[in-house]
Amino acid sequence: MALKTKKKKKQSKKSSTSKIKTDRSILEEIIRVDHAGEYGATRIYDGQIAVFGKNSKIGKTIQHMADQEQEHIQKFEELIVKNRVRPTALIPVWNVAGYALGVSTALLGEKAAMACTVAVETVIGNHYEEQLSLLEDDQKELKKTIKKFKADELEHHDIGIAHDAEKTPGYKVLSKVIELGCKTAIEISKKI
Ligand SMILES: [Fe+2]
Ligand SMILES: [Fe+2]
Repeated sequence: MALKTKKKKKQSKKSSTSKIKTDRSILEEIIRVDHAGEYGATRIYDGQIAVFGKNSKIGKTIQHMADQEQEHIQKFEELIVKNRVRPTALIPVWNVAGYALGVSTALLGEKAAMACTVAVETVIGNHYEEQLSLLEDDQKELKKTIKKFKADELEHHDIGIAHDAEKTPGYKVLSKVIELGCKTAIEISKKI
């Protein structure tokens, strides 16, 4: 009798490891926070373009990144619906906060605007990397999407560096403040 139960236990363990599914709450958190983050990114660039104008040289560079963010947010809007995930309740907050961050860094100048991109993309890049390790094979499509977007964000980071982001007066402090803000926004948007 004892032997039989032992055998049964072993079998069920085997079948549960052979098809690993991504935890539903983790999947929801990932889609919710990415949707919120990509939305915030579009608002940052909206704010910066409002200051620089879309026909200026820097405005055009920012527009290229903004176009990619548009593609990202559209994809996550689709995923929110498809996976029936509740979007963050803080959309109105990220709307204003993103735009304000964009406007204020742009008012500090072109380098500061680029420093903002570098800081944001550093956090987002690491965050996407972390998510790739949380998603199992049942989420191959989403993993592919995140990998692609991660590459885009890395490109934005590099554009920022190429535009002298690091030469912004007070660069270190500015980046730390923005990075901390992004990390906080990420933690909040996972849950709320
Ligand atoms: Fe993005
Ligand atoms: Fe980006």
